[in-house]
Amino acid sequence: MDDKIMQLKKWIDESDNVVFFGGAGVSTESGIPDFRSVDGLYNQKWKYPPETILSHSFFVKYPEEYYRFHREKLVIDGVKPNAAHLKLAELEQAGKLRAVVTQNIDGLHQAAGSKKVLELHGSILRSYCSACGRPYPADKMNRGEGVPRCACGGVIRPDIVLYEEPLDDAVVSEAIRVISGAEVLIIGGTSLNVYPAAGLINYYRGNKLALVNLSETPYDDEADLVIHEKIGKVFSQL
Ligand code: APR
Repeated sequence: MDDKIMQLKKWIDESDNVVFFGGAGVSTESGIPDFRSVDGLYNQKWKYPPETILSHSFFVKYPEEYYRFHREKLVIDGVKPNAAHLKLAELEQAGKLRAVVTQNIDGLHQAAGSKKVLELHGSILRSYCSACGRPYPADKMNRGEGVPRCACGGVIRPDIVLYEEPLDDAVVSEAIRVISGAEVLIIGGTSLNVYPAAGLINYYRGNKLALVNLSETPYDDEADLVIHEKIGKVFSQL
């Protein structure tokens, strides 16, 4: 086993206070493209730039176009948790991992059995009426046709954080609490490009920060351990 993976395994074996902070790269091995890799969502040709479509003002102005993109690109049938998701759930069950803090909206951590999952950007498995707030099963939004509407006439929207929208205060403060108290912080599958999410890792105060990411990130120099490998491959060896 690679020395760096052995070092990460040692930190985890010796700790009962590990926190994971992840992004879209955790789900690519489940068949969900990430955003900024060469074949990522933001590099795919679409009528408007995907970052524009995934914004509050676009959703309000062009809900039909938003939902075309949502059903085509965000909802992927038959995706399953991969080795990374499963290992994190196992570490939580073993009393080692305190929480998963994720930027992902795919629900795969919960599908793998993780209980404490802080979804900084929400989830496409939940939806609600943008007018009266009534919650709706996500299928009406993810599987339907056209713009889903509430009984009140309002547009049903996904429970995700679109660009121009704030993150949920309670989720952010809990993420800060677990990260600032963590003994080991493992960051995986994220380019650490998007704030305020990426800024949360600055609350970590320990000296066991591991970064497991295929490409370089702006935080590589601040990490105590950097592994540029596929996260599923690394986690299956822990
Ligand atoms: N193993 C490890 N790293 C991987 C893997 C893998 N199998 N696949 C991809 N990666 C890495 C890529 O090299 C990239 O650095 O994961 C990172 C994914 O980065 P992004 O595509 O930028 O995704 P993310 O960091 O989650 O984006 C953050 O941006 O648009 C917003 O809301 C969106 O939550 C998203 C946020």
